[in-house]
Amino acid sequence: MEIFKTKASLQAYLQEARSTGQKIALIPTMGALHEGHLSLLNYAKPISDIRVCSIFVNPTQFNDPKDLEKYPRPIENDIRLLESVDCDILFLPSVDEMYPDKNEVWHLDLGELDQIWEGEKRPGHFQGVTQVVYKLFTLVQPDIACFGQKDFQQVMVIKRMIAMKDLAIQLAICPIIRDQDGLALSSRNARLSEAGKRTALALSRSLQYVKDHIHDAIPLAEIKDKALQILTDTDGLSVEYFALCESSTLKEVDHIDFSKQHVALVTAWVEGVRLIDNMILNNLSN
Ligand code: PAF
Repeated sequence: MEIFKTKASLQAYLQEARSTGQKIALIPTMGALHEGHLSLLNYAKPISDIRVCSIFVNPTQFNDPKDLEKYPRPIENDIRLLESVDCDILFLPSVDEMYPDKNEVWHLDLGELDQIWEGEKRPGHFQGVTQVVYKLFTLVQPDIACFGQKDFQQVMVIKRMIAMKDLAIQLAICPIIRDQDGLALSSRNARLSEAGKRTALALSRSLQYVKDHIHDAIPLAEIKDKALQILTDTDGLSVEYFALCESSTLKEVDHIDFSKQHVALVTAWVEGVRLIDNMILNNLSN
């Protein structure tokens, strides 16, 4: 695996690859890699010639400086994991390399997507995410970019940015990887005790409850209440939001229109760790 720390060296390498018609996949990450990230690399393998994984803990998407400071940076282990899945290139820039202009201003009008759910709870977060992802897109010019469904709203935001900026990039949304009990893999799970992990299983149970009942002849509000009760009945868990939404706008719905895709979103705290999860409720066959 080649490791590049500067934009210039990465660009020079990719220019050469592009000139020979090679297909480039980008997998942007903030490191602290786990099976979920590796699944993105594995997804990209058969559909690309060069896989570029970026590891960059992006300061502009953190609203809490303590969170940024605390963010794990196990780079040696990350490199080992990337090598285990034959990643071709690791892009590992410094903050100065990504943000040479300290006064850089970025604003993308994402409308309501930027103001609801994660957008409301973490003001400015999606501006930071789109800022860095746009930089990476411009730099790497990938044919395919892979993101995990785990951060569902982030994926919808990136999708919106690709459309707004008219970028010729195929967006691959890769399924959530869960452990054998159903807990969605996340770098944050490392901060949970074994008991905390068991408590956190209520998230996937509540989502699954909705999915299992959307065809029942009872109002969606009742199904939602029962699912929410799974969470509120769980000791040691505090719910931040639980919502049933139309997928592309993330607007909350009171019934399922089966001609559109819907998703259940949940965010809850366990042992001081903020956990997010989601589940697609109806797959559109098209
Ligand atoms: O999902 C993440 O890890 C980050 O938000 C991303 C997409 C790498 C941008 O910093």
